[in-house]
Formats: sequence, structure tokens, C-alpha cells
Amino acid sequence: MSENISVLGLGLMGSALAASLIEAGHRVTVWNRSPAKADPLVARGATRAATPAEAVGASPLVIVCLLDCPSVHEVLKEAPLEGRVIANLTTSRPAEARETAAWVAERGGDYLDGGIMAVPQMIATPGALILYSGSQPAFDRYEQAFTAMAAARYVGTDPGMAPLLDLAMLTGMYGQMAGYLEAAALVRSAKYPLTDFTTELLVPWLNAMAAQQPRWAEAIEAGDHRTEVSNLEVNRAGMENLVRAFQEQGVKLDLLLPMKTVIDRRVARGLAHEGLSGLVEEL
Ligand SMILES: NC(=O)c1ccc[n+]([C@@H]2O[C@H](COP(=O)([O-])OP(=O)(O)OC[C@H]3O[C@@H](n4cnc5c(N)ncnc54)[C@H](OP(=O)(O)O)[C@@H]3O)[C@@H](O)[C@H]2O)c1
Repeated sequence: MSENISVLGLGLMGSALAASLIEAGHRVTVWNRSPAKADPLVARGATRAATPAEAVGASPLVIVCLLDCPSVHEVLKEAPLEGRVIANLTTSRPAEARETAAWVAERGGDYLDGGIMAVPQMIATPGALILYSGSQPAFDRYEQAFTAMAAARYVGTDPGMAPLLDLAMLTGMYGQMAGYLEAAALVRSAKYPLTDFTTELLVPWLNAMAAQQPRWAEAIEAGDHRTEVSNLEVNRAGMENLVRAFQEQGVKLDLLLPMKTVIDRRVARGLAHEGLSGLVEEL
């Protein structure tokens, strides 16, 4: 079904989103603060709006992808939001998303917040995912259109949920990157070929470890941190070993040292028999 859709914000991400909607056959109206960024999209069939109000007025579904939450308020403040679905894909904090949802509702609009799990080059490819939260009727109405940009997953009525899960996914990613950088520094200190270590040894190991994570999730949800894999005493000793080995190789363990602090704290509480999943209780 071809929809009328407006896209406000044509930076790297907004332009990729608008292009995917045009490609899927939707009637797309575009607006950007610096008008020249609309030119390539207009050349592909989009309609240019001169103001945010004109763009919002042109379509019942308005996709917003700006720098941050304050810029969203600045751009939408003069626009007629009555009867519109605002799908705000600008990266926001959960509290900001809830506040923007209330602000849009006061103006008679329906609100979805989105977390984009992709870079612009991934938009409209199978690896791209956008999380949505907020108005379920709005999501159900436009789910089909959303899938032109990326796989669309609705995660709940709390508008803050999509940004929270977005942050949680980034947190997992940063943790993995921190581990990788420490491993790379250690391997480099011994002059072992890093590409070989990464592809032949580390990636298969990380994949095997990631396969354990659903079991951790079950343990955390059940509040049952007993383990048959390795308890905190074993991991405390392992961390001690890691710290000394890094010192001996002349490499700093700055990115991982906080984990040792949390293990030590948990063990000091007399919970050395638990597995690593128990550390979540310290957070
Ligand atoms: N790029 C990514 O890989 C990626 C991935 C996931 C999520 N995101 C999110 O997508 C959003 C946009 O990112 P981007 O990569 O497209 O950034 P970008 O290329 O820097 O574009 C920023 C956009 O915001 C507009 N803007 C900034 N301040 C404004 C203001 N005060 N009033 C009106 N317009 C304003 C810019 O307009 P001008 O053109 O006039 O400067 C431009 O359209 C961000 O929230 C980002 O976190 C990006």
C-alpha cells in the first residue's frame, strides 16, 4: 500500500530513510534545515516542503530524524500535529522519549519513538532493524510502511522502551569492543599476528560464549545464580591472573578492571559459590 509520508531531517540517516521509502513506492515529502540536502531526494521523486509545518501538513505519518531531542522540539513546535502520527527516530534517552510523547499528545498527535539499529548504508538491507515503542495503533497502522526502511519490531507502549533497548544493545556492543581492544593490546604486546588471532581464535570463541547468554538471562530472571560452569571464586582467581599477566606484558587493563572490582565485591559478600550472572545484582 502506498502511503503519504513526510520525513523531517535529511542528514546521513534521514536521507537514507527517505530514499528507502521513495524506493518502496511511497509518496514522500521531505524537509531539512539546510535545503540543499533535499535535492537528491527531490530528483528521485520526493516533494520538497519549505517549512516543517508544510511537511507535517502534507502527510498523516511524519518520520523525524534529527540530531537530538531539543532539535525535534524546535522543528515541530510550530507544526500542526493534530491527527498526525509522529515516528521520532532521533536517538533519545528513555526519559526524553516519554516527555516528547506527552508533548505530542498535548498537541493532538500520536507518538512512536524509534531506535535505529543500523548505519545509513544498512537501511533497506536485511541486517537493519528499527525498534518502535509508544502507540500500538500507530505501529499497527504503519508497520508495513516501516518495513521499507528496516525490519520493524514493536517493543511496548512505554515510549521510552525502544530507546532503552537501543541503549542496552549499544551497551552489549561496547562491552564486547572493550574486551576486544584489551585482547588486541595483549596479543600485540607478544607480536602475535592480530588478524590471525582475531579470525581464527577469538571470533569462534566469542560466538561460543555468546551462545551461553540466554542461560544467563534465565538465571537472572529466576534470581538463581547457582552454576555448574565456573563460580565467582574461580573467576576472582582468573581475574587476578589476568591483572598480573597484563602487568607483566606491560599492557593496561583499564577497560576491564571495573569487572574485577564487582567480582571482588560479590565474593566479599560471601557469594563466591555463585556464577558470573550474580554480578547483575551488584549493578
Ligand atoms: N548515522 C548513524 O549511523 C546513525 C545510526 C543510528 C541512529 N542515528 C541517529 O539518527 C539521527 C540523525 O543522525 P545522522 O547520522 O543523520 O546525523 P547528521 O548527518 O549529522 O544529520 C543531523 C540532522 O539533524 C539536523 N539538525 C541538527 N540540529 C538541528 C536543529 N537545531 N534544527 C533543525 N535541524 C537540525 C541537521 O540539519 P542540517 O542538515 O541543516 O545540519 C541534519 O538534518 C541521530 O539522532 C543519530 O543518533 C544515526
